[in-house]
Amino acid sequence: KKVRRLLNIEDYHQRAQQILPQMTYDFYRTGSDDQVTLVDNQLAYRRIKLRPKIFIDVSSHPPSNSVNRHTKLLNSSVTISFPCIIAPTAVHCLANREHGELATVRAAVTHSTIMCVSTLASTRMESIAEEHRRQIKEHYPQSYSQLWYQLYVFKNRQLTQQLIERAERCGYKAVVITVDLCVLGNRECDIHNDFALPDGIRAENLIDDTDDNAFKWAYDSSLSWKDLGWIRSITRLPLIVKGILHPDDAREAVRHGVQGIVVSNHGGRQLDTSQSAIEALPDIIRAVRSEAKNCEMDVYIDGGIRRGTDILKALALGAKAVLVGRPILWGLAVDGEKGVNNVLQILKNEFQTAMMLSGCQTIEDISKNDILVMNGNNN
Ligand code: FNR
Repeated sequence: KKVRRLLNIEDYHQRAQQILPQMTYDFYRTGSDDQVTLVDNQLAYRRIKLRPKIFIDVSSHPPSNSVNRHTKLLNSSVTISFPCIIAPTAVHCLANREHGELATVRAAVTHSTIMCVSTLASTRMESIAEEHRRQIKEHYPQSYSQLWYQLYVFKNRQLTQQLIERAERCGYKAVVITVDLCVLGNRECDIHNDFALPDGIRAENLIDDTDDNAFKWAYDSSLSWKDLGWIRSITRLPLIVKGILHPDDAREAVRHGVQGIVVSNHGGRQLDTSQSAIEALPDIIRAVRSEAKNCEMDVYIDGGIRRGTDILKALALGAKAVLVGRPILWGLAVDGEKGVNNVLQILKNEFQTAMMLSGCQTIEDISKNDILVMNGNNN
């Protein structure tokens, strides 16, 4: 019997479901409470329609006789091969026992994009950075790939500070502070499954070198804007705040001078019935633009991106780039490094086709060309 080829993200999802133990699959896939936000993150993209432009030469742009999908971020300090970043997700060794995050980081280098490494990674951040350097040096010397470090702020501030200092020391290029997890969302599937990490898989960055024991850590529910000043004072790296849905908070982020925000509801895993990320985006873009006329702050978005057209829509609404979470985990579970490579390649190809079919020659054209119809009306 002919094996079905994996052509899109949903194919990878279904194959991953067949392969993964139920407990791991549920941990990756599900959201909180009734999973309304989880579902809506994807459906909201489907509700937005495209209005393509025609008779535009989309043939002539380097590097590949096609449109130019290279994307500049953080005040043009970094260029990635297309506007798609690997979102921080916990414990990649659950998807791929042997290589975990090391497989993911190799694919990030191959595709010249950014991997945002989770605080709850199952590989030490130093090892990921070392693999990143090796992969660039040995295989892709022209890769623009960077590592960003996703930070959970813990009650133990000394531990938190050490994590930031380690990340800076070993070459991470930005700190992404996740702010939508002052308490863990109510994930009932994980409760049913008595979810626990299997022996041998742990949050390696939270292990004390000296005695091989886990640090005592707990999320800090007292976290507030004033803590941003403290983080600013201990690192020179660009700061990006992840988990914003309210335009007031986006304005506050501009006032605090952060370099970027991620519009996100944590993939529907935290506050259920939160607005979908893409529906929250327009108000946030308006707020950011009105707060500072020449604002250098990047706005990113994640949650529910499964097709190249989803990326196109996010950029048309003003996002600089998107982050993808679960699609990377499906690729990793199905075929390790190769699987993540294929997932990124699929999104890249789909995005390029979407740009060409909508008449966008460059990334800038996507927001200029007025190609969206929201809820049947011209936005
Ligand atoms: C996450 N996410 C997440 N975010 C974060 O800041 N730190 C983390 O450790 C994790 N861990 C994590 C694990 C798993 C299994 C998932 C599915 C998600 C959230 C993640 O960064 C991102 O916001 C969402 O995954 C985006 O939604 P999609 O692309 O999965 O729909």
